[in-house]
Amino acid sequence: MPYIPEDVIDQIAARADLVEIVMGYVPNLKQAGSRWKGCCPFHQEKTPSFIVNPDSNTYHCFGCGVGGNVFKFIMAVENLDFPGAAQFLARKYNVMIPEPEPFRGKAGSAEKSDYNLRERLYLLHEKLAAWYASWLKNNPDSKAAAYFRTRQIDPLFAQRFQIGAAPDSWDAAMQWAQQNGFTIEELQAAHLVSESKNTAGKFFDFFRNRLIFPIWNEQGRVVGFSARQIDKEQGGGKYVNSVESPIFKKGRILYGLNFARPEIPKKGSVILCEGQMDVIAMHTAGCTNAVAPQGTAFGEDQAAVLHRYTDTVLLATDSDSAGMKAVLKDASILLPRGFHLKVVTFPGGKDPDELLHNSGPEAVTQAVENAADFFEFLFAHAAEKYDRNSPDGKVRIAGELLHYIRLLDNEVARDSYLNWLSDRLGISAENLKIELKKAESRQPQVRQTVRPERSDENSGNEEKKNGPLPLSMTDPKLKVVLSELLRLLLNNRACVEKAARELSPDDLDDGPVAMAVTIIVQAHLNGNWEHGAAEITRELASCPLDCSEVFTALTEEPGKPESDEIPLRIVDDCMKSIRTIRLKQQIAELRREMNRMPPGEDRNGLLREFMDLTRELAETGKKKE
Ligand code: CTP
Ligand code: MN
Repeated sequence: MPYIPEDVIDQIAARADLVEIVMGYVPNLKQAGSRWKGCCPFHQEKTPSFIVNPDSNTYHCFGCGVGGNVFKFIMAVENLDFPGAAQFLARKYNVMIPEPEPFRGKAGSAEKSDYNLRERLYLLHEKLAAWYASWLKNNPDSKAAAYFRTRQIDPLFAQRFQIGAAPDSWDAAMQWAQQNGFTIEELQAAHLVSESKNTAGKFFDFFRNRLIFPIWNEQGRVVGFSARQIDKEQGGGKYVNSVESPIFKKGRILYGLNFARPEIPKKGSVILCEGQMDVIAMHTAGCTNAVAPQGTAFGEDQAAVLHRYTDTVLLATDSDSAGMKAVLKDASILLPRGFHLKVVTFPGGKDPDELLHNSGPEAVTQAVENAADFFEFLFAHAAEKYDRNSPDGKVRIAGELLHYIRLLDNEVARDSYLNWLSDRLGISAENLKIELKKAESRQPQVRQTVRPERSDENSGNEEKKNGPLPLSMTDPKLKVVLSELLRLLLNNRACVEKAARELSPDDLDDGPVAMAVTIIVQAHLNGNWEHGAAEITRELASCPLDCSEVFTALTEEPGKPESDEIPLRIVDDCMKSIRTIRLKQQIAELRREMNRMPPGEDRNGLLREFMDLTRELAETGKKKE
């Protein structure tokens, strides 16, 4: 390795204890004879097949076939290159690596810059977190400090979670960082500064006049910040979060996991909260297995991370309608992955933080202990809306519960919940099972490609019968537009409302993205928008076409919530583009048809249609301006 001398690598290899390292990632690693055995951190499994051999300091997974030495392990699990992994281990085992040259922008080789940059960014975040914390401590007369006091955070935990504040200044953090040897390129790479729109080359702090929560990754390194506003008048939203950087990947971060890691196996579960303040309140109350997603909704990647620690998740969301939605959304991610779910409710407070301050730590631990099985919770919720004694009420309650029972990945679990529901409703388990199967095989009600009537008349049209690929899969522009539309409809209620009003189902064919758009609109019309994504996943599961675009859209994190105005305008543009493309296609098809007609036959019908379409196209174009 060019940057780390050979003998240093040897020293690291000699000191690093793979068993100890793996233990940090595989909580159930246990000694089995002369080896150690646990669940593989690189694939999902329930029976351990991941083996560590302490004699050779190597690992191997009999499930997925990965294996290697301590460097390979850290590279894979930490997503580092070799020098990065060596650096990581050197720090852990106190091996001195000759100081890397300071990062010099684009001067060095790409690989070297990359390696240095990540390390520099870790250092920058670590030092900046400490600086924010000391600024808060040293400025008790600041507005930030006054706000901080109103939050009444236990001092021990304020310190543990290293709460700080960004001063009310345009460039204090930037000045501090530069005085401490960090470059503007490094600050930019971390998105800690923004460039002035008016004056190129002029920068200002990204976080200003806010309470600062450092965000740690799983291994306890600061990789970003979340910053809370200290008064309502201040613009920019309640929380401002770090933008993704080479060291900060939102979708994988679980706030508090660095502290909760050893606690989760001990407590046998993880508590999934909504935000930083909830996590801190939970930890303060002794529920040290609490974590929260960071500045984004809980997603697949985070579920995969949790899977390495436990199979039981306690959902602890706010007790309002948004919290309820979060519970259902989290459930649709977690149930198919085999997690057992419980739901924590907070009587006498909207969230753990409020409950802690209103009723004390025991009330919080009590709430956690009282967590209800997810299906019991769902049943109680449905039974509040519908009369469980009336036939119609039973149908509706069963419908809601079956929706989630069918997400269970395990036949035994499905069977037990079906029996349980059958008891609860006084309906035979057999009939519930029939409904469950029906719901599973139900296909989306998607319109056929343009005007199927016409293609039916066209008996000689071979192409149609075998089905050419839908236009939405072959027209690159339509593909892009539909994907964009899908993203908006998945993430913004106002957008889906607009689409439901204005989008013509005739313009959507049965390509996967178009189908997904239809499903999400239909889900909205059924009052079930929240489950639209789950519905799409289910409906497309058996689609033989390439659905990768849909799944990409589904797994992406939604962008920062913005005002509805811009997304609505984009939806409008998308719908117009789709309409235009479809009209053009219809016109081309008509033209072909007219050309095929034997001379002498009456073309007037087709001609009229042609004129109509052309006029419509012209109008759509006009509206676009
Ligand atoms: N969040 C965000 N951006 C916002 C609002 C919220 O990123 N504009 C994230 C934050 O991580 C926050 C979490 O969503 O911690 C939960 O939001 P919310 O319930 O509104 O915040 P609370 O945890 O109740 O925070 P507070 O008590 O400070 O109001
Ligand atoms: Mn909250």
